[in-house]
Amino acid sequence: MTVLDFQKYKDEGRKFTYVTAYDYTTASIVNDSECEVILVGDSLAMIMLGYNSTVPITMEDMIYHIRPVVKGAPNTFVVGDMPFGSYNVSKEQAIANANRLVKETQCDCIKLEGGVTMAPTIKAIVESGISVMGHIGLTPQTATSFGGFKVQGGTPESARQLIEDAKALEKAGAFAIVVECVPSVVAKAMREEVHIPILGIGAGPDVDCQVMVTQDLLGMYGDFKPKFVKHFANIREEMIKGLNRFHEESINGTFPSEEYCFNKAVDIPAVYGSAK
Ligand code: KIV
Repeated sequence: MTVLDFQKYKDEGRKFTYVTAYDYTTASIVNDSECEVILVGDSLAMIMLGYNSTVPITMEDMIYHIRPVVKGAPNTFVVGDMPFGSYNVSKEQAIANANRLVKETQCDCIKLEGGVTMAPTIKAIVESGISVMGHIGLTPQTATSFGGFKVQGGTPESARQLIEDAKALEKAGAFAIVVECVPSVVAKAMREEVHIPILGIGAGPDVDCQVMVTQDLLGMYGDFKPKFVKHFANIREEMIKGLNRFHEESINGTFPSEEYCFNKAVDIPAVYGSAK
């Protein structure tokens, strides 16, 4: 997948999928799956670091997490999220931080939140040579100013504004737009009004790509479950079961059995490489 393939998929009517990863192991699992795109989202603030919003995450945090994902997923398109406060001061600040994110992590593009008001910044970043993915609808970084984590575009006026946002992002040069938590009809209307791919999370079926946080879709994150999240597996339960089996066998002495012990000197070179 390259940045050009997003439009190719859309034009050919091929749907694709986009999931998060915040570490090397998860990235390598996604890389081995059929999912086409990885987002190192600032949602890592909540999912990995336990904050109650995405606001506290820094450029350093993002760089720290994007690097191992790029290493773990060499065949997958990796999107790096710009954290809150890293692009809303000036166009110069936004270009400098976008450059830093791409240069220091080698991710394939950056994503940032905002509609019409952010369009001039997106244009400036695109003109500096960096591909930009937009993000409108529920924008978690500024959710408090909209009264919290709520469905957006629920009134005719706000739905129209969202479509204007999408058009402004397309005109500014964004190559795709994440649309989060909007009624299905709004995402459908938006998709009819803009030509670039619409990547939906909680936006219904009429989008070009479904987006989901991996820890949500695999049933790993336990703090809350938004309405739009479906658990396609129950990895949290499996992990707890595995941990409890380890605990039980360690306590009752069935682990480690003979096969997991170094009982002969000859085992040692096999594990640690050739003896010096
Ligand atoms: O940070 C993130 O995970 C996101 C998705 C919700 C699209 O921005």
